[in-house]
Amino acid sequence: MSNTHPAEALEEQRILSVISAAASFGLRSITVLGEVDSSTRFLLEGEGFGEAGVHACVAEAQTAGRGRRGRAWVSPGGANLYLSVLRSFAVVPEFLQGLSLAVGVAVARAMQSLDVQGIALKWPNDILLGGAKLGGILLETSARGQGPWRVVTGIGINVRMPADAGAGIDQPWTDLAAHGAHPGRNRLASRVLSEVILAQAQFVEGGFGAFHRDWELLDALRDRQVELHDASGSRWGTARGVDAGGALLLEVQGRCERVVSGDISLRVVT
Ligand code: BTN
Repeated sequence: MSNTHPAEALEEQRILSVISAAASFGLRSITVLGEVDSSTRFLLEGEGFGEAGVHACVAEAQTAGRGRRGRAWVSPGGANLYLSVLRSFAVVPEFLQGLSLAVGVAVARAMQSLDVQGIALKWPNDILLGGAKLGGILLETSARGQGPWRVVTGIGINVRMPADAGAGIDQPWTDLAAHGAHPGRNRLASRVLSEVILAQAQFVEGGFGAFHRDWELLDALRDRQVELHDASGSRWGTARGVDAGGALLLEVQGRCERVVSGDISLRVVT
């Protein structure tokens, strides 16, 4: 690992100093932690995070970072970005599919604003760079029968993953440093947080429709042969983008099936 770009410590004031004015308007609190089990759990179960506005948490390290499909998210200290954003929504859970895709577009916009070129999105929530996984997004909600729903959006982005920690990741991965990108973690946190806050507000106004076109421009799977694996087994088909709600359109033997995200894994075949 090169020390030309030493990791900077996360600092609330440095994050806040470059957050966009429009985003800071809705931001009620930002908590910077040295170590936490999971920044998402911290916000989901924490006291004092009310239903109005947005609350954010960034951590230097997570001891029990949560990934999709019950996996652990490898979260060594001082190396990457672990960011969670809490906001309440008066929408029903079906909207979460589209919301999580909208967050992917927001992360891509943040990366573009930092001059990181070549970001793509792999349905439902992987952030890719150079064909490998740079980061991931996981939405979690507090269990309630009625709205408003407290939704925590968790975002992990590999900035400079130490080799020993990276050895524990069971899929092709990359980090920003490997692509010559050194935005600084405070600036990265600030840009991602700004774009996520703005995207969530835009989603409340216009739903996933406001992001559909941008998402499809970033779609890494478009027209690729994929293998989809869920509780009922494996299926093969051709990915044909997403529908107006964010469900994957999978063409199987000439017919398009809607696939909603859940306990699903997806692998590119060709
Ligand atoms: C995935 O599996 O692709 C989603 C990974 C999400 C990881 C982030 S890191 C910040 C937040 N806290 C967690 O425990 N998980 C999310």
